[in-house]
Amino acid sequence: MTPPHAYVAQSGSGAGPRGERPRAVDRGAADHVPVMLERCLDALAPDVGDWVVDATFGAGGHTRALLARGARVLAIDQDPNALAYVEALRDDLRTAGVDRPEERFRFAQANFADLDRHVAQAGIGSVRGVLLDLGVSSMQIDQAERGFAFRHEGPLDMRMSGTGESAADVVNTWTMEALAAVLHRYGEERHSRRIARAIEAARDEAPITTTGRLVEVVTSAYPGGPRRDHPARRTFQALRIVVNDELGSLERGLEASASALADGGRLVVLAYHSLEDRIVKHVLRDRPDLEPLTKRPVEASEAEIAANPRARSAKLRVAIKRRSDSDREQHA
Ligand SMILES: C[S@@+](CC[C@H](N)C(=O)[O-])C[C@H]1O[C@@H](n2cnc3c(N)ncnc32)[C@H](O)[C@@H]1O
Repeated sequence: MTPPHAYVAQSGSGAGPRGERPRAVDRGAADHVPVMLERCLDALAPDVGDWVVDATFGAGGHTRALLARGARVLAIDQDPNALAYVEALRDDLRTAGVDRPEERFRFAQANFADLDRHVAQAGIGSVRGVLLDLGVSSMQIDQAERGFAFRHEGPLDMRMSGTGESAADVVNTWTMEALAAVLHRYGEERHSRRIARAIEAARDEAPITTTGRLVEVVTSAYPGGPRRDHPARRTFQALRIVVNDELGSLERGLEASASALADGGRLVVLAYHSLEDRIVKHVLRDRPDLEPLTKRPVEASEAEIAANPRARSAKLRVAIKRRSDSDREQHA
């Protein structure tokens, strides 16, 4: 393996565990700011050469910081658009003098629900940390053609992996009852039945194929009066969750992460809404081989929220993989 000092300068601020400062690997997508970066790194606490799985690579912000600390990273993302950031990172590693980037960084375009399988396929014997920074990235939201945002006109898609049923398929083919149930359950939308009925009536006129048309339909169904947020926000959240099976993948991904971790390894999860956080809290508390290190979720500082509004809803939880009995005996 190429040692970290082969591409890391000798001193400076933001130093890794040996005091080195990365020359190139700390550059990410220009406008992307990773959430609670230092807290995630401190919670993962990798030693130089340790393998960490960044199961939600995105633009690679957390991965680059982990590499800069001397960790090795197996990155996973189901979005094919992440590949551009993967290539940029590989180029930066080569530019920084790493001849064989795969010794320090690997990538699987996959769902993190199967994380343990990808760890085994990569031949990584011991995983010291797993990071899950859940939800969609700011790049996905900002690309109108992905259809995630109620503020951007685009096709009603919302598929992170680009495969399977789109949001348009859901709103145009699911029964009114099924739509109302989804809006209620995943959007915690009080007016779920009204909105589902309005969708049913609108699609009888013409299929709903764009974000703008769905926003119009939802807004027209919404009762008047003062509102705290956009009338379509909860509907869009619910559709995104169901299109990507976000909660099912999260449950499986947490189980797979716990299985993949070495004894004493850390599981670090950033959740962005209460449905996700509830699942994380329960799995971290209920799995006998995990010990939660955060009783309550840790939130971002006011300063970070001011600089990066996406951090506002972030909730960080950390667990450690308990040592197995045989390991405890060896350490006794
Ligand atoms: C919030 S972003 C991560 C940003 C990243 N930490 C960074 O600093 O650039 C979440 C990413 O996770 C990916 N993702 C979400 N659910 C996933 C799943 N079940 N399997 C694999 N990737 C997933 C999304 O495609 C998105 O790129």
